[in-house]
Amino acid sequence: MKKLLVSYVALLTLGVAEVKTYTQADRILDMQKMAQAMQDIQSGFFYNNLDIVKAGAEDLKKTIVKIRPIDSELHNKDVYERWMNNNTAMTKRIQRNIASRTEVIIKRFENGDPRQALQEYSKITEQCMKCHISLRKW
Ligand code: HEC
Repeated sequence: MKKLLVSYVALLTLGVAEVKTYTQADRILDMQKMAQAMQDIQSGFFYNNLDIVKAGAEDLKKTIVKIRPIDSELHNKDVYERWMNNNTAMTKRIQRNIASRTEVIIKRFENGDPRQALQEYSKITEQCMKCHISLRKW
């Protein structure tokens, strides 16, 4: 029981420490990286360059998993609760969705099917906007 409690506290501390390190500046930077990655993918399409498509898709896949609530959201009780209740599941779903679509983009483009790759790309854009609209009311 004691052991369980200790590991629970350790987990909690770790969790809080990890969340604390994610600032608004970090998230803005991640967003800008993703916007750049999306542009890279699009350039890869236009220049018919698999390496550029791949690099963009991989950047995007690496970055999307980092998105989470920032410090001030976690410390504002109401916002936190709202986030926990409504948005954590949505965020995870969107992250999984985008990550798997980046893989499909690479595969489709590699296999000479740029139309399908573009379709996946549009669906990623929809996912980005889904969060912006529902979370940010943009
Ligand atoms: C889970 C929610 C979520 C997802 C998914 C998401 N965003 Fe964002 N995005 C935000 C939030 C929140 C902000 C506002 C950041 C801030 O100012 O604190 C933002 C801001 C931005 C900005 C503006 C950054 C700046 O310089 O002010 C860009 C660009 C952006 N997102 C691009 C993207 C792209 C591209 C995707 C998809 C690949 C995406 N976002 C997916 C939540 C999300």
